[in-house]
Amino acid sequence: MNETNLEGAGFMTRAIHAGQEPDQAFGALAVPIYQTSTFCFDSVEDGMAKFDGTKDGYVYSRGGNPTRRALELKMAAIEGGEDCVAAGSGMGAISSVLLTLLAAGDHVIVGDCVYGCTNVVIRDVLPKFGIEVTPVDTADLDAVAAAIRPNTKMVYFETPTNPLMKVTDIAGVKRVAGENIRVVVDNTFAPPPVQRPLACGADIVVHSVTKYLNGHGDVIAGVVVGTADDIAQIRNIGVTKVSGAICAPFDAFLIIRGLQTLGMRVERHCANALAVARYLESVPCVKRVLYPGLESSPYHELVKTQMNGLGTGILSFELADNVNGLSGFEAGKKLLNALRLSHIAVSLGDPASLIQHPASMTHHNVSPEVRAEMGITDGLIRFSAGLEDAEDIIADFKQAFATL
Ligand SMILES: Cc1ncc(COP(=O)(O)O)c(C=O)c1O
Repeated sequence: MNETNLEGAGFMTRAIHAGQEPDQAFGALAVPIYQTSTFCFDSVEDGMAKFDGTKDGYVYSRGGNPTRRALELKMAAIEGGEDCVAAGSGMGAISSVLLTLLAAGDHVIVGDCVYGCTNVVIRDVLPKFGIEVTPVDTADLDAVAAAIRPNTKMVYFETPTNPLMKVTDIAGVKRVAGENIRVVVDNTFAPPPVQRPLACGADIVVHSVTKYLNGHGDVIAGVVVGTADDIAQIRNIGVTKVSGAICAPFDAFLIIRGLQTLGMRVERHCANALAVARYLESVPCVKRVLYPGLESSPYHELVKTQMNGLGTGILSFELADNVNGLSGFEAGKKLLNALRLSHIAVSLGDPASLIQHPASMTHHNVSPEVRAEMGITDGLIRFSAGLEDAEDIIADFKQAFATL
């Protein structure tokens, strides 16, 4: 199957075939790992033509590499964008977008609840370069509209948010932002087949590929997907020159392998998270469960319309203020330490269930004041449902709750 007849193909078909033509040297079906820093030219003229772009080909692996290119083509097809650039981490991808597309004097609206390191880059680092930043709850479209200024160039947000699981109406934000303001969505928590921000009107999608896209907990990587023009700029400036945060060939190979089972994996992660969320809602010492797929969630309708009815594989919950004499935070610590199946670890989207404490782990580098402003309490716990049997995950929680 070639690129042309993938048009109109279903999600799983594209995830398996896009970007993957049999290797021209020996016909290998799996994409070969081109583990090389440089590429030899046939002649000086050949090298000159490849450098000035009049001839296709690779010159140096920081600028481009065939294994990485196969990954980029597959990701562009999966997110439905014109092109993609792969980076050495989600943060490499995110910083490359910001450093390429923004300049001194510009204004950015950023979701008020984003991943801790993203928060540092946007709220602490960008202002040092003369870029104005306004944090806004992007789930509130009136608040987004009110924050727009004449120099606003970008609205950047995560949906669902990490770790509060708020869902933003992507099409609504684009409607409010209009043509001249780029809408950039971090889609790490709801990758296709759940949510496709570009189809909702977003201009750029970023991912921490480290999570669901690779899906096996053995790679750190990121991607940016968008128009061919935007991606060419982000590749040439942000990724290749400013950050140099490129995705290594072996990592690209592993991600290509992971992406071929993305659809099946993500559906299972979401189903397991829903089962755990429903169980946690029934536990008396659980004060609140934040999971958009629950019927009780204010985002339940958006899950149906924007998230393919699937939700996400992650949920957060908070224990009651007093659990048999223990504060919510102390009870949470005891609960996590008592779990035998789920691992205490940051990251998410791995085959194994992972559980962590945002205030002391993923968001520890966000000041307590900003955490309080974001709504991240000390008692909040984030859980990433793995691919295990849901009954086993729940049985593990039951035995851990029994220790409180
Ligand atoms: C939503 C989100 N975006 C970006 C990142 C950063 O990705 P990476 O760790 O691959 O640099 C993370 C990491 O946890 C994340 O959760």
